Amino acid sequence: MTRREEDHFLAADYYPLVETLYITVDPEQSQEIMDARLATAVDYLRASKLVAIPTETVYGLAANALDEMAVKRIFLAKGRPQDNPMIVHVDSAAAIRPLVSAWPVLAEKLVERFMPGPLTLIFPKSDLVSTTVSGGLDTIGIRIPSHPVALRILELSALPLAAPSANRSGRPSPTEAAHVAMDLDSRIDCIVDAGSTDVGLESTVLDLTPVRGPRILRPGAVTLEALASFFIEHREEAWPFADEDWLSYLAAGHESSDTSQIVARSPGMKYRHYAPKARVCVLRAEDIASVLSELSTEVRAHSALFISQELAETLELDDYGATHCFGPRHRADLAGHDLFAAFRIFDKKGCEVIFAEALDEEGLGRAYMNRLNKSASAYTEAGGEEDA
Ligand code: TXA
Ligand code: MG
Repeated sequence: MTRREEDHFLAADYYPLVETLYITVDPEQSQEIMDARLATAVDYLRASKLVAIPTETVYGLAANALDEMAVKRIFLAKGRPQDNPMIVHVDSAAAIRPLVSAWPVLAEKLVERFMPGPLTLIFPKSDLVSTTVSGGLDTIGIRIPSHPVALRILELSALPLAAPSANRSGRPSPTEAAHVAMDLDSRIDCIVDAGSTDVGLESTVLDLTPVRGPRILRPGAVTLEALASFFIEHREEAWPFADEDWLSYLAAGHESSDTSQIVARSPGMKYRHYAPKARVCVLRAEDIASVLSELSTEVRAHSALFISQELAETLELDDYGATHCFGPRHRADLAGHDLFAAFRIFDKKGCEVIFAEALDEEGLGRAYMNRLNKSASAYTEAGGEEDA
């Protein structure tokens, strides 16, 4: 394809449909059986095809990170804006090294402590990584997933895999293979189904490149509390930052009131994320009850509730179009696990408004509230473009 043809191809609305192969894998099966079931998916990845894979956070849409055309196809299949960088997945610390141009002591220790697991680290990128993967940035986000199927696919393919969440742009991240099928059937080559994902929210993104010190660009299951105690523990040996205010700097990467600063650091943040079709309304438990009591029977019948057990016990649930109770209020992990799946069910039922219960912003509650608030702000100050 010439450069002009390629530009035209990328600009076109048209997307060539393909037959999607479905593979089911049980992570409990023996390695031999798992390897046999994964063989075609691995062949596909080595042939630069697109394969949706389970991770412990959400399903990812994977392709060979070193093949620019394969990565461009990910953007096309998702309808993702090209300035939104991809996370590269690898199976070991050794596999990170060639992809980055700096390897601070701190990185070594972070990898040791938190990986494999739901943490993405942002490094300055090496020349091996194309700017197509990095969305034009000179940095690269890398993570080692802990899901046994993801890890095995990485090992068998022996490739670094670029993998954003496997949803159409702007839709909630998929936590089940059926969600991937809903968004991407006939647009990607293969979906590996290993059941529901564990965490349900995307990884914590920690930027190691700012001169002032590390910064959380997206909260996730590796919590602010866990990272702060890690940095305090390693202050003596590995702390390169003299800043008194390091903790609020670490915490505030996704909360800056200056949107242009966030956008410059992590372009993906300017896009509409995690959004169901219904309007999302986030309220504290004590406020939900009074807001709901004002609604007409008709409106209630078209509304959905995403609430704790404590709140569910005080309401007449049959009055609503759909309800999901995630469990006790202190279990932000259960709320996070269920959130995106519930959004999709509410959409399917045609609910127009979702009333979701706010939780305390501590531990995993930060990630839950971050996704909820993003879903609630349908369009951002940056202009209402869509992606996730
Ligand atoms: O849990 C996850 O991270 C999932 C699974 C599949 O691994 N992946 C995921 O990818 O959520 P994605 O592309 O949907 O979200 C990646 C986020 C975006 O907000 C993007 O802007 C940010 O990470 N990001 C990626 N590379 C970056 C970089 N070099 N600098 C700053 N932000 C980056
Ligand atoms: Mg995403």
